This record gives sequence, structure tokens and C-alpha cells, in this order.
Amino acid sequence: MNQKNYFIVGGTGGIGKAMVEQLIERSANNKSSGKIFATYHTSQPDFAADNLYWLPMDISNEKSIEQAIADIKQQTTHIDWVINCVGLLHTPHNQPEKALRQLETDFFLQNMQINALASLLIAKHIKPLLAKAERNADKPAIFATISARVGSISDNQLGGWYSYRMSKAALNMGMKNLSIEWSRSLKDVCVVVMQPGTVDTQLSSPFQGNVADEKLFSPAYSAERLLEVLDRMTADQSGSFVDWAGESIAW
Ligand SMILES: NC(=O)c1ccc[n+]([C@@H]2O[C@H](COP(=O)([O-])OP(=O)(O)OC[C@H]3O[C@@H](n4cnc5c(N)ncnc54)[C@H](OP(=O)(O)O)[C@@H]3O)[C@@H](O)[C@H]2O)c1
Repeated sequence: MNQKNYFIVGGTGGIGKAMVEQLIERSANNKSSGKIFATYHTSQPDFAADNLYWLPMDISNEKSIEQAIADIKQQTTHIDWVINCVGLLHTPHNQPEKALRQLETDFFLQNMQINALASLLIAKHIKPLLAKAERNADKPAIFATISARVGSISDNQLGGWYSYRMSKAALNMGMKNLSIEWSRSLKDVCVVVMQPGTVDTQLSSPFQGNVADEKLFSPAYSAERLLEVLDRMTADQSGSFVDWAGESIAW
């Protein structure tokens, strides 16, 4: 019986909500008693389950991250999988830059804080709970963050989107670094960054014009594929950048 405990960061976003729903479905099918902890920010959760615990968390505030994880510690001794589904591409005031003249310091720093720094802070505070997960090289604990293919430096043919691209590239470097540190100090944890496909969410909605219908994934499809990829991850794959099909993406 699968008794895994999950921590989904950003459980009311497009992909994050679909992740939580998939995990609830999985636990119902497996009759698992594992717990699912999920965070929300400005959008309130609109669904519930017996093994689902909602926590408020502002990922741009380390104290808020620390508090959410302290609340988890009241409910469980360990977390097996962490999946950070939070991300920022545009705000009501800022769209991703088409050219350098549109670059603004505050928006750039906001991207770095949400897309790059937050995963490191979550890792810093969740480490004691991951350390208590039952795990081995074939079935490692998971620390996954949804990144983006546009964070790949070698894949960049189009330019633009300075803040988003740079913050995802910084995230990728942070997670690669973390995989090296944890291969020494926290064995059998797979640290991974993932490309979810182009997914029909509010984040991508202004930019779906040129995306063919069959290339635009539903959040449920993307979440299911990402979870299947994570199911197959082994500890020696820690430090990977992979897509929804499990294919490696060049840094
Ligand atoms: N959709 C795509 O096509 C696509 C493609 C490549 C990569 N991605 C990546 O996939 C991930 C998920 O994106 P999505 O498409 O599901 O977008 P989404 O629907 O906009 O979800 C993003 C989530 O991030 C949360 N968030 C933003 N700022 C936050 C903060 N300060 N503290 C806590 N939560 C915060 C939002 O919550 P609130 O609204 O409540 O603030 C929302 O739940 C992101 O990392 C994105 O970069 C998406």
C-alpha cells in the first residue's frame, strides 16, 4: 500500500490544482492513507478531501514558507515528495519583455524571487521532513520544481522574455547545485526541474495564439504525465531537467 506524503506548493494554480486532484484520485484508487499538503496564495481552495490539508503560503516571504512547513510538522513526521508548481510570467501591470527597453527592475526581481529563489527556500526548510522519508536509490524521495523549456540557454532561439527566461535559468542552476549538495548530505532524494508542456492555464493564456490545439495540454493531462515521470525517477537522475514525457532537456 502506498503511504506517501506529498507537499504540493501552489495547489490552486492551473497545473498545481490538477496535481492535487490527480494525487487525491491516486490515493482513492490505492486506498492509501498518505497525506497531501497543498498551499494556496490569493486564490482560495474550492475543493476538499479527507487526506488533503490546505495551508496558506506566500512563496515570496521566507517566514511564510517556514510557517507552512512548521504547520506540516504538526501533522506528519515526513514528506516523500515535494512538487513546487508556483510560477510567474506576467502580472496585471507587466507582460514578459519583448525587448530590452521594456525591462523593469521591480518585475525582474519579482520573477527572480518567485521563480528562482523560492524553491531554494522551500528546500532549506523542508529538508528535515524529506530526511525522514523512507527511500532508496530506486525509489527516492522527490524534490521537483516546474521550470520551463525557455529557461534552457542552449534552446534559446527566439530571445525576449528576459525576466522569465533568466529566472528559470537561475532556478535550474539552483536545483542542479542542490542536487550536488544533497547527493552528499541527503542521499536518495531526486532533485528535478520539469517542463510541463504548453498548458492551458492563466499563465499561458495570453500566449496561446500560435499553439496548435493538439500541442496545448489540459492541466490534468500535464499533471498526469509529470507524475508518471516522477514515478520512474531514480536517485541517480537527481539534477535532471526533463519534460512531461521524461525526455532530457539541454541546459
Ligand atoms: N502553463 C504553461 O504553458 C507553462 C509552460 C511552461 C512552464 N510553466 C510553469 O508551470 C508552473 C505552473 O504554472 P501554471 O501554468 O499552472 O500557472 P498558474 O495557473 O498561473 O499558477 C501559478 C500559481 O503560482 C501561484 N503564485 C504566484 N505568486 C505566488 C506567491 N508569491 N506565493 C505563492 N503562490 C504564488 C499562483 O497563486 P495566486 O494566483 O493565488 O497568487 C498560482 O497558483 C509555473 O512554474 C510556470 O512557469 C507553465
